[in-house]
Amino acid sequence: MTTFVLFGGTGDLAKRKIIPALYSAYVNGRLAASFSFIGAAREALTDEEFRVRVAASIEAYASEDADHSAEKMAAFLALTTYSKINAHEAGDFEQLKQRIHTSETDPTLFYLATGPDIFIPVVEQLSKHGLVEGNARVVVEKPLGRDAQSAKEINQSLRTYLNENQIYRIDHYLGKEMVQNLLALRFANSFLEPLWNRKWIQDVQISISEQVGVESRGDFYDRTGALRDMVQNHLLQLVSIVAMEPPVNANPDAIRDEKVKVLRALHKFTPEEVSKKTVRGQYRAGAVDGKPVIGYQAEPGVPTASRNETFVAIRAEIDNWRWAGVPFYLRTGKRMASRCAEITINFKPIPYSIFGKAQGPLRSNRLVISLQPEESVQLFMKAKEPGEGIRLSDVALNLDFAEASNLRRVESYERLLLDAMHGDLTLFVRDDELSAAWAWIDPIMSAWSNDSEGLKSYIAGSWGPAASSYLLAQHGAAWGEEYVEG
Ligand code: BG6
Repeated sequence: MTTFVLFGGTGDLAKRKIIPALYSAYVNGRLAASFSFIGAAREALTDEEFRVRVAASIEAYASEDADHSAEKMAAFLALTTYSKINAHEAGDFEQLKQRIHTSETDPTLFYLATGPDIFIPVVEQLSKHGLVEGNARVVVEKPLGRDAQSAKEINQSLRTYLNENQIYRIDHYLGKEMVQNLLALRFANSFLEPLWNRKWIQDVQISISEQVGVESRGDFYDRTGALRDMVQNHLLQLVSIVAMEPPVNANPDAIRDEKVKVLRALHKFTPEEVSKKTVRGQYRAGAVDGKPVIGYQAEPGVPTASRNETFVAIRAEIDNWRWAGVPFYLRTGKRMASRCAEITINFKPIPYSIFGKAQGPLRSNRLVISLQPEESVQLFMKAKEPGEGIRLSDVALNLDFAEASNLRRVESYERLLLDAMHGDLTLFVRDDELSAAWAWIDPIMSAWSNDSEGLKSYIAGSWGPAASSYLLAQHGAAWGEEYVEG
């Protein structure tokens, strides 16, 4: 029997993402025929009380495409039980053990959707109770540490009880459809590779903007900030996939070997570079989609004088032969103008225009990979507008994946849960990737902590502080939304 144990089973992530993803996998016939789901958390709940919460989470958050019929729901709930767990109570793990049917062939998956402070106590107890032997795997959620040192300590402690190939460090951006598609785009086509380097690429922009604020996580977020919450993991993972060399094959370690080289080649900033190449901001009251919203410092759980950043823009560089001199502009923020995650590859301009200045400024070719809200790949090219004379305009060769295929869309958490159940580590972060990412982040954090002036404010619903535009403008570049088409 395959058993899925969800620590933090009553938490927000479980409710919004993990339980709905599990349900979707179930109704689409993707779970093992013999499967059981155990929610685990500190609260004392009966199986029945937990099932009521599971049902509510599915109602509210499971994909609309998933079969929500009463029969399916009842069948899923019949596989669901609950185990009260205090991470420091050996007796609780004894009881959990009674509910798990370990077998040589079927995996047991322990998903730690909890704060990182209890990762090690939980894994230690699992180990003491013989639960991580054989086919057991442990999925750990971010944040994995606060800096390189604490991440190293967590990794070392995990490795006391587990082999590296039992540890699934989840980064849900890796489960997004278009991220995998980027691998296909880069390594299953011949025309891009000759262009994919410093000779032809002007800059790369990776932007993840959100309209939401900190929601109910003010306290957590204020101890974390956008750099740790988004850049250290999601953005750097995207950088590594955009910039990696072709792996020798598609095996997890072949891919991760190449990704880690990119992370190690990221140019580490001196304190002076941090002040020139990074921008951090915090939103003040404004309006998102026309609706007024409060400023960050007024959010519940956030201290009124908080200096925590909710926006980051960075001009990163990769010190290797392929990318030397090509800026990688990274940006993320909360309460921004729109929700959008996009990778833009801006190609170099043509060396000389035979069409003259009458055409106005021509934006050079670009490849835009949209992760959300739509999934698409667009290659923008110049073409002549129909009609008399020559007037050039941007046209997009457009691959709209929603239109191109009616195959079911799989949400990132569902994809990653299934990969973990099947033992596929490709889309999970290896310990050396994590260390390399933190090693690049550390100097930025320490320079920021010594510079009380650097935090800029921006109006909620905007594209961030003006300094973010200037970061690019001083190099003749602009964020995608700033271009005025000629
Ligand atoms: C999470 C961050 O990892 O990613 C959140 O902790 C953020 O702060 C979220 O909102 C964004 O994910 P997505 O998939 O909605 O873009």
